[in-house]
Amino acid sequence: VKRVRTLHLQRAKDAGEKFTMLTSYDVLTAGIFDAAGVDVLLVGDSLGNTVLGHGTTLPVTLDEMIVFASAVVRGAQRALVLVDLPFGSYEESPAQAVRSAVRVMKESGAHAVKIEGGVDLAEHVAAVVRAGVPVMGHVGFTPQAEHALGGFRIQGRGDDAAARVLADARAMQHAGCFGVLLEMVSEDAARTVEESLTVPTVGIGAGAVTTGQVLVWQDMLGLRTGTMPRFVKQYAQLAGTAREAVSEYVADVRSGAFPAEEHTYRG
Ligand code: KIV
Ligand code: NA
Repeated sequence: VKRVRTLHLQRAKDAGEKFTMLTSYDVLTAGIFDAAGVDVLLVGDSLGNTVLGHGTTLPVTLDEMIVFASAVVRGAQRALVLVDLPFGSYEESPAQAVRSAVRVMKESGAHAVKIEGGVDLAEHVAAVVRAGVPVMGHVGFTPQAEHALGGFRIQGRGDDAAARVLADARAMQHAGCFGVLLEMVSEDAARTVEESLTVPTVGIGAGAVTTGQVLVWQDMLGLRTGTMPRFVKQYAQLAGTAREAVSEYVADVRSGAFPAEEHTYRG
């Protein structure tokens, strides 16, 4: 199989086609999603919430990202593996950003990194690109800045806010990003960005106008329950399926129905 590369994502935009992205944090989901045809596997720092149980992405470390990213790389044959630089691993200086991005590439074998930032982080992102590491910029709602942004809020609503999102996206393209992710942005603002940039945008809660779409896998497969953001479509209900299966196991052990003859060694 031929590996997806950043140039294929650019070709998708140029041809008016879509590409797909889904989070993954382990070897088994990486293999399943890769076989299903997902183009980009995102080792997102959302693993702080969905795997490690933190309330935000802020506590996630670079060492943790590298552990999960290595597993995803080992499970993916075709997909491009994209890894988030976590909070605290790049903001200090362009040199710190380069050091962290290079560690991800060397130690996990991933193919690109994603950095939350816009106008303010343009120098940092440009330095990483100059070091030879492909970067996707992440603008709009940036979860690492949740406390600065006043919680989970839709970005780009109204002329001033839309102009800010566009300026951030442009700064990321100018810094050399191969794509820009737009999170929780009104569709009108996302359309302006997608049309103004030459590089593709990827949306999560940014409407249907972006070249790519991304979701968090535990949300889209219903492994995580509770209230979901409006932008999530649930394609399965894995939490319910797993709970029923495990309840059956518990009942079988208690009743003596498991293990049965076929699960038992003799002689
Ligand atoms: O960490 C993550 O999963 C992300 C997506 C929400 C885009 O950055
Ligand atoms: Na993220």
